[in-house]
Amino acid sequence: MQVKAASIAIAIFAAGQTSALPKTEEWWKSKPGGHPTQHYFQNAELGPRPQFLVTDMDEGWLKDRLSACSDMVARPSKFSIGHRGGACLQFPEETRESVEAGTRMGAGILECDVAFTSDRELVCRHDQCDLHTTTNIVVTELNAKCTTPFSPALNGTEATAKCCTSDITLAEFKSLCGKMDGYNASATTPEDFLHGTPAWRTDLYATCGTVLSHKEFLELVDSHGRDFTTELKQPRVPMPFDGNYTQELYAQQVIEEYRAAGIDPSRAWLQSFSFADVAYWLQADPAFGKQAVLLDESGDTPASFSAAVANLSFYKDAGVQVVAPPLQYLVALGEGDEYVPSDYATTAKALGLKILTWSLERSGPLAQAAANDDYYYSTIANGTFKDGDMYRLVDVLARQVGVMGIFSDWSATVTYYANCFGFF
Ligand SMILES: *[C@@H]1O[C@H](CO)[C@@H](O)[C@H](O)[C@H]1NC(C)=O
Ligand SMILES: *[C@@H]1O[C@H](CO)[C@@H](O)[C@H](O)[C@H]1NC(C)=O
Ligand SMILES: *[C@@H]1O[C@H](CO)[C@@H](O)[C@H](O)[C@H]1NC(C)=O
Ligand SMILES: *[C@@H]1O[C@H](CO)[C@@H](O)[C@H](O)[C@H]1NC(C)=O
Ligand SMILES: *[C@@H]1O[C@H](CO)[C@@H](O)[C@H](O)[C@H]1NC(C)=O
Repeated sequence: MQVKAASIAIAIFAAGQTSALPKTEEWWKSKPGGHPTQHYFQNAELGPRPQFLVTDMDEGWLKDRLSACSDMVARPSKFSIGHRGGACLQFPEETRESVEAGTRMGAGILECDVAFTSDRELVCRHDQCDLHTTTNIVVTELNAKCTTPFSPALNGTEATAKCCTSDITLAEFKSLCGKMDGYNASATTPEDFLHGTPAWRTDLYATCGTVLSHKEFLELVDSHGRDFTTELKQPRVPMPFDGNYTQELYAQQVIEEYRAAGIDPSRAWLQSFSFADVAYWLQADPAFGKQAVLLDESGDTPASFSAAVANLSFYKDAGVQVVAPPLQYLVALGEGDEYVPSDYATTAKALGLKILTWSLERSGPLAQAAANDDYYYSTIANGTFKDGDMYRLVDVLARQVGVMGIFSDWSATVTYYANCFGFF
């Protein structure tokens, strides 16, 4: 009864207000069009996912603390690094749309992985030869230029294609549509080959992702006032490419593009898996080199893991200041399924190395992490049961390992934690 009475009162009140009438276009034109600094997205929009993850957590102090932040106004944080643009859980990776969504979700640093085209322009792609799984190239006439054009599945043999940025020019690259990474190995037609998005991602925004040159990426991120991380991808063709394009020219070109865009080196985090690239940047241009990031995937097996830990002092002595291993290198299982810092983490910390880590939100539902032998949870899979465990991982990385930032395929997840705990 009381509920009904209240709704009637509201209905009468609303009917009595002239403001309830629809507004004309003229009325809207007379109103100012938003906050003057809106361009810089000074607030972050975090959406429903962080709360979904928090609700899924085990009861306890961390859940209470994160729940208490559910109504906060969030701002961008450099602790939150937009992997492949920052929204590739749902948006085509390395596209304008992924960068825009990652920016909105408060990533303070946005990533572009670079590869080169046949005319030696740098473009954002996670692999020099992934155009057949991340764009629509096989259904365009550019398919004919691919290292291996599309060939259909036949008699139990899988469909194949291999298309590289170095097969085409920048102008040709710009004519492609970015899509969700994946392919259909049973495809008998090029159209069918495009399908293969895991069910826990989505094709909702894969209508025609806008592919980016590195120059366009710099301009876009700069226009939003955020910072940058460019990864120099390993060439998939012998270097020097085309006679005289050496690895050093390729590494130098990244710096030239930052300089031409007038970006201060303190806003640029260059990365490579190759120690030679990082060593080159350190020597050739210390302003950029001093915060160059050495990506490390040298410890994927228990035996190579100890070697990777041992090698950290070599990197430190060589002048590397930032190392970036995958998530699972930094954690181990302690008592009662607790996540604790690993040997890698404690060694890197003791050496005074700064640490970044990758990549959260690439694994799909965590209830299957152990069954799927998920790469990013491999050292803690036996203590990982559900999506809510993701914030246990973020918390140990942030407050115990002391990482400087976390790459994520869905920036809001890290931005939420960063705001709640004051990591900026
Ligand atoms: C497919 O396999 C069958 C049985 O092995 C064979 O008879 C046929 O010739 C094959 N077709 C082609 C196109 O390779
Ligand atoms: C994969 O390709 C096969 C053959 O072209 C087709 O029958 C199937 O529907 C495709 N799968 C998807 C998910 O598109
Ligand atoms: C590299 O070779 C191209 C021709 O393939 C030539 O136009 C260019 O000047 C050369 N660049 C350098 C730095 O030698
Ligand atoms: C240490 O790193 C350097 C540079 O990447 C490499 O050449 C060397 O093989 C590594 N050593 C071990 C033991 O992994
Ligand atoms: C997880 O548990 C299984 C079964 O007890 C064991 O074989 C495996 O080594 C454990 N994995 C890790 C990383 O400790």
